[in-house]
Amino acid sequence: MNVIVLVSGGGTNLQALIDKNIPIKLVISSKEGVYAIERANKAGIPAVIIKNNDELLEKMCEINAELIVLAGYLKILPAEIINAYKERIINIHPALLPSFGGKGMYGLNVHKAVLDYGCKISGATVHFVNEGVDTGRIIAQKAIDILPNDTPETLQRRIMEQVEWVILPQAVWHLIGDVEASHSQGNS
Ligand code: GRF
Repeated sequence: MNVIVLVSGGGTNLQALIDKNIPIKLVISSKEGVYAIERANKAGIPAVIIKNNDELLEKMCEINAELIVLAGYLKILPAEIINAYKERIINIHPALLPSFGGKGMYGLNVHKAVLDYGCKISGATVHFVNEGVDTGRIIAQKAIDILPNDTPETLQRRIMEQVEWVILPQAVWHLIGDVEASHSQGNS
């Protein structure tokens, strides 16, 4: 099973995948110098920087990627890549979709919007990537309570620790199982 992980930042979700023994073939970063690359290096996983979408698609084909995990990947993938890997690209979003998704909804912006709205719960969502922004079918979701004194920063941290780092590896293991089962039935 060829799993590749796309990153653009600190890579705490990548670390959660590493810690849960997900067999990652390659880490691709859209940016130089991000800590996610160091995490890959420390775990002995090959990592490359690719900024250009044509090169990205080429690389995915070259290594025969079967599951592509966007773990804090900040670029929007072009339709060409999304169509080539239908139901094979997943993303983690730090809110309960379909609320608080879409353009501009990333990082602390999400948690600020959730608090401004007065929400009493929030969480994270693992979903398939389609041509919209944060609109693909939901694979996994988990909610936590918002506390009276929460700030965007405290909420972000709690959602990462209690939700993202838990549901992302679980969802990936689940999908790996599905693909391996289809291989063994000769459906690959
Ligand atoms: C996470 O909050 C994730 O939900 C969002 O981007 C952030 C990435 O953080 N898509 P990290 O790079 O995994 O630490």
